[in-house]
Formats: sequence, C-alpha cells, structure tokens
Amino acid sequence: MITTQNTNKLTYSTITPKIGLTSALSKTPTEVIDVIIASQLKGRGGAGFPTGMKWKFAADSSGDIKYVICNADEGEPGTFKDRLILTDYADLVFEGMTIGAYAIGSTHGLLYLRGEYTYMRSHLEKVLADRRKNNLLGKDICGKKGFNFDIEIRMGSGAYVCGEETALIESLEGHRGEPRNRPPFPVDTGFFDQPSIVNNVETFAWATCICAKGADWFKSIGTDKSAGPKIFSISGDCEKPGVYEFPFGVSIAQLLKEVGGTNAKAVQVGGASGICVPASEFNRKIAFEDVPTGGSIIIFGQHRDMLQVAKNFMEFFVEESCGQCTPCRDGNAVILRGIEMLERGECTTKYLEELCALGETMQLASKCGLGQSSPNAFISIVKNFKNELMGRAPQCACHE
Ligand SMILES: Cc1cc2nc3c(=O)[nH]c(=O)nc-3n(C[C@H](O)[C@H](O)[C@H](O)COP(=O)(O)O)c2cc1C
Ligand code: SF4
Repeated sequence: MITTQNTNKLTYSTITPKIGLTSALSKTPTEVIDVIIASQLKGRGGAGFPTGMKWKFAADSSGDIKYVICNADEGEPGTFKDRLILTDYADLVFEGMTIGAYAIGSTHGLLYLRGEYTYMRSHLEKVLADRRKNNLLGKDICGKKGFNFDIEIRMGSGAYVCGEETALIESLEGHRGEPRNRPPFPVDTGFFDQPSIVNNVETFAWATCICAKGADWFKSIGTDKSAGPKIFSISGDCEKPGVYEFPFGVSIAQLLKEVGGTNAKAVQVGGASGICVPASEFNRKIAFEDVPTGGSIIIFGQHRDMLQVAKNFMEFFVEESCGQCTPCRDGNAVILRGIEMLERGECTTKYLEELCALGETMQLASKCGLGQSSPNAFISIVKNFKNELMGRAPQCACHE
C-alpha cells in the first residue's frame, strides 16, 4: 500500500495488533467500558461525544442483536486522515470494532466505506481475512468461549450527508440517505431499529491503543476537556501538507510551524462545516473547548480571496443538502445568492447582516448537523474579513 502524504510519527505505528484485544478480553465487558470512560476518549468524527458513554448506553439497551458500525464515509472537505488510517492501520480499526463488540455484546460489525475509497476495499478485505485466519474475528475469538463477531464492508455512494450517523444507517438499510429525527439515538434504535454504536475510524483505532497502553497514558496527553492525541488532515497553502498527529490543545500557530504554513492569512478548522480563524487568532487552541475539529485543517495563504473561499463552501452545501428541512434546503441557497451579490458589489451591509442572522437561524433550526454547521464558515469569514468582502467592488446606491 502506498501512502504519499507527509506525516510525523503516529502513535498507531507503535501498537502491535492483538495486544489491545487480548487485554480487553481479560476484562469483563463492563470493565472495558470503564477503561474507555476513564480514558476520556471523545469521538473523533467531529461531534466529540464521549465514546465510553456511547458504548455504555448501547450495552445497557436491549435488542435482539446489536451492531458496531464504523463510519468511514470521510466526506468532509479537507479530510483524508481516515484514508491513511485505513490504509496503514486497518488492523487497529477492526480491532477497536471488535473491542466495542465485546463491550456492548454485538455479533455483527459494518464498515461503511466512502464510495471514492472503493480502491482500498480489496486491501481491507484481506486484513479482515487475515484476522479471521488468526482467530481475531469469527467464533470464540482469541479462545474466548461464546464471543463471536465478524465485520462486513458496505460501500457508500458519495453523498456527504450519509456521513451523518442516522443518514448512514438509513443508507445501510438500503433507503435514501436522509437523517432521522434524534432522539431516539442509534444506541437504542439504530440499524434496523436495533441498538448500534456508530464511531469514527480514528475513534476505534484509539480505543485499541487505550486497551493496549491504558487509560492513564491516553488522558495524560491533551487537555482536561480534550484528552489524547488527534490525527489531522492538513492541506492548502503550506510546504508539507499531509496527515499529522498532535496532542489536543496544540495551537494553530504551532501546527502551522510544523507544516511550513506560517505565512497564512487564515485557517479553516473543521472542514467546510468548521470555522475560519484569522491570523490574529492563531494562538487559539485546537480542542473541543476552543476550536473543535474532526481533523480537517485547510490553510489559506495571503493571496487567497476569502469571498471565493466562502462561495466554494456554500456551493458544496447547496449541492449536498438532502432537502428534507427548509432552513438548510433554502438557507444555503439564499446565502450563496448573497455571496454572488457581494461578488457583483450589490450587497449592502444591512443585507449582509441579515444573511448572518439567517445563518444563525439555520444553526438553530436545521434538522441535522449539516444545516446546523453549513453557515459556520460564511459567518466567520464575514466576521473576520468584512472589509475584504465589502470592499471588492462598487457598492450599490443603498449601501449603508
Ligand atoms: C453532514 C455530516 C457528515 C458527517 N460525516 C462524518 C464522517 O464522514 N465520518 C464520521 O466519523 N463522522 C461524520 N459525521 C458525524 C457522525 O454523525 C457521528 O457523529 C460520528 O460518526 C460518531 O462517531 P464518533 O463519536 O466516533 O465521532 C458527520 C456528521 C454530519 C452532520
Ligand atoms: S439539515 Fe440539511 S441535510 Fe440535514 S436534514 Fe435538513 S435538509 Fe437534510
């Protein structure tokens, strides 16, 4: 398998498969959940929900069968860390799913793989086959009587919204990929209405590392509210774009130094649905309590036109909105039209403020995370680069 990106040393490269699983199987399922809770691991897919609590809810929920689902849809613009993890460390991901299965009492795992990653399916199938051969999947795993679990791979088809966990489950069930109302949550009513845990690729790999190295090791890294290391996809105007590991709490400035991007004008943290941080705030920390991210970091150099940045993101959301709810279906299109007015110098300051207010309404009123976060980039670009946006073309007569 070829990986061409730059990277620094990832903890994953120091973990030997099977050690985490063997350690987990020497404990009771409840004890495994306690270890994950004690580690303070939060989901790496973006929302940051505590993983141990998610597993506990699913373990406590009753159902005929329980499912472990790995979200490998990786559709957020600027995110490609899961691709590297699956390419180089698939064993750790499948092992994390197996540990999750033991913890919640599941027999069936599903890896929902981004359609564009079809090329790596044969590699992943081979890793699964080897794990079956080595009794790390299948019946009586590692000799643990009665612990039976296997994993199948299902392909996505390129819809960004299918990364949202309930849309993903709809898609897995063979339906159109549209988000469900929450509650009920997948831990109670997930795949075919059975208790299911949905976790990110990176989250499962960290669960394996935690079982191998211990909860104390994990929480000794990072900050009080954001424990552990984090894997980042770093792209844009820098010398060494790639996949990097930093502890949570790293400042944007530190990260830029590492990748040769110190002359940046702005950094988009969290992909298209994240926020755009200007150079004056590069001392801010990447952590759930300051600037959160699922891992996407896009660097913009001095020459970048921030209106085009905002336009690019809004075009993406207009295209990807599933259209189920009005704030997102219409709101994204209205903001995009406003950006086109700005391009022509036809947008007043007052209308720009109204567009930001619309964005805030979308954040509150949209049904799922797509519409709740799609205005983030636009609002932060208006806040931080208003002069650049307004000063680009002749204003109309009613400009205030
Ligand atoms: C529009 C949208 C797209 C998402 N895409 C992904 C994705 O590609 N991968 C992912 O792990 N989580 C994605 N999420 C978050 C998932 O809904 C869910 O929170 C996550 O898979 C839970 O795993 P974690 O707790 O390990 O982070 C997305 C959310 C939204 C709203
Ligand atoms: S917020 Fe957007 S993507 Fe989510 S349900 Fe509403 S229309 Fe669909």
